[in-house]
Amino acid sequence: MYGTAIITGASSGIGLELARVFAREGYDLLITARRDKRLKQLKKELESTFNINVYAFKLNLTEEDAGSKLFHYAEKNDLDITVLVNNAGVGDYGFFHKSEWTRQLQIINLNITALTHLTHLFLPVLMKNKKSSILNVASVAAFQPGPLMSVYYASKHYVLAFSEALANELEHSGVTVTTLCPGPTESEFQEIANMQKSKLFDRFAVPSSKQVAEYGYKSMKKGKRVAIYGLHNKFLPKLIGLFPRNFVTATVRKIQERK
Ligand SMILES: NC(=O)c1ccc[n+]([C@@H]2O[C@H](COP(=O)([O-])OP(=O)(O)OC[C@H]3O[C@@H](n4cnc5c(N)ncnc54)[C@H](OP(=O)(O)O)[C@@H]3O)[C@@H](O)[C@H]2O)c1
Repeated sequence: MYGTAIITGASSGIGLELARVFAREGYDLLITARRDKRLKQLKKELESTFNINVYAFKLNLTEEDAGSKLFHYAEKNDLDITVLVNNAGVGDYGFFHKSEWTRQLQIINLNITALTHLTHLFLPVLMKNKKSSILNVASVAAFQPGPLMSVYYASKHYVLAFSEALANELEHSGVTVTTLCPGPTESEFQEIANMQKSKLFDRFAVPSSKQVAEYGYKSMKKGKRVAIYGLHNKFLPKLIGLFPRNFVTATVRKIQERK
């Protein structure tokens, strides 16, 4: 009824929960990630629970031709794409000068390049529909510099700035662009980003991926441009504006530091 929603990073965390929400609401799905087994399990779960079709496509989004492969797969299967959810993302904890370049490049390629390329590829398709949506997953990290996760924070700043500009360009086009900005959330992110030593996840009450996904879906349906999850997170951008930039950066450093 609603057409097909593409969800990247659907093998765990927020992406997996978004897939469950979209399926419950009646969307067909094109889910993608590298872990094929998990995608197939999810496909089985969702198709047996809801009256929908789920297409599972294994893909490493950091590969240069990944976006084109996904686009051709959607075309080949004649999918009516009405939603693009750019959710897949990774981080890396630690000093930039001590980090592995390949990890930083992975962040840039996934969080920035793949998101932008998929948006560029699928926008003409989305614009053909009377009403369609892009849901880009950024983070509250988008609002300030993030020492000890410098490239990750900067990548999310990009996602927010790009998506807000796009939302403006697409006004009256029938395509809405929503940027979802979660704070620390329960998922595999923390472990994959080597954040076990950071104080960040200990400082705040951490919501489940399901809570964040439900909020993201609702915000997208409302056509909200920037959707910040959690009451204390909502004040963050306003609060940050009241303090000198160096102070804000130093505070983030303190929060990010080792336990
Ligand atoms: N959790 C948090 O605290 C938090 C806070 C703010 C924002 N976010 C953002 O929320 C989004 C989802 O993260 P999450 O918390 O749900 O983390 P997660 O559980 O680690 O999920 C990340 C997803 O991205 C996929 N992915 C990673 N590398 C990939 C690649 N090279 N190619 C294709 N897919 C890839 C993973 O699948 P495979 O490994 O199977 O490929 C997985 O499905 C990210 O953009 C993250 O930055 C998270």
